[in-house]
Amino acid sequence: MSLAIHASGLVKRFAGMDHPALDHVDLDMTEGEMLAITGPSGSGKSTALYAMAGLITLDAGQVTLLGEAPKTRAAWADVRARRIGLVFQEDWLLPTLTACQNVELPMIGVETSPTKRKERAEAALASVGMAGHAGRAPAGLSGGERQRVALARALANRPDLILADEPTGELDRANSDRVIGLLKDLNRAGTSIVIVTHDPHVAEACSREVRITDGRLEAVR
Ligand SMILES: Nc1ncnc2c1ncn2[C@@H]1O[C@H](COP(=O)(O)OP(=O)(O)OP(=O)(O)O)[C@@H](O)[C@H]1O
Ligand SMILES: [Mg+2]
Repeated sequence: MSLAIHASGLVKRFAGMDHPALDHVDLDMTEGEMLAITGPSGSGKSTALYAMAGLITLDAGQVTLLGEAPKTRAAWADVRARRIGLVFQEDWLLPTLTACQNVELPMIGVETSPTKRKERAEAALASVGMAGHAGRAPAGLSGGERQRVALARALANRPDLILADEPTGELDRANSDRVIGLLKDLNRAGTSIVIVTHDPHVAEACSREVRITDGRLEAVR
């Protein structure tokens, strides 16, 4: 099996911290895995996810994603656009666009037909139970609804790898179960998935769990 993620020796230091936010993190993830990253607040989980998505400059280490090792910011942006679905800890929806337009946004440049973009955005919104809210602006949605729109945005390009930072953090149990069910279905269909979570239920639903403590990563199971 080929690797979805090969990360070796990742080090990230931020000024004012007495230890690195990432302290020589190594992680190999096989394609088709569904991996949970757990750990205390401030331990480096989001930083690890950003590193795997090429969104931060590392002090040391290398990341290969789906066999690609981008060398420039533009090359990283290209890999993200084509192959990765990103869910940030905050939703980062654009306030002047509707839910549907937000979901369509990352498809621009990947899917050229506006009709297909809209169809795919509507299908992604339906898959997270947001079909009735496609025309609503983010300000008119609850936190959990915005989080589901952000997840739909990550799914719309049919990514090979989903990197999700607390995708159920704002959701009640029923919606959390629905989102995890959806991610499991995608995983069964071949999508590799990384989920950062504080929720033991969500971690248990994953095929493997690693934990980050003070920037160091260790296997849990
Ligand atoms: N841009 C930054 N500048 C300075 N310090 C930062 C920056 N980003 C993160 N940190 C620090 O790095 C450490 C790891 O942060 P990170 O966001 O990865 O934690 P986390 O495990 O995702 O926490 P949480 O569960 O609260 O989201 C924290 O101590 C944080 O304060
Ligand atoms: Mg975080």
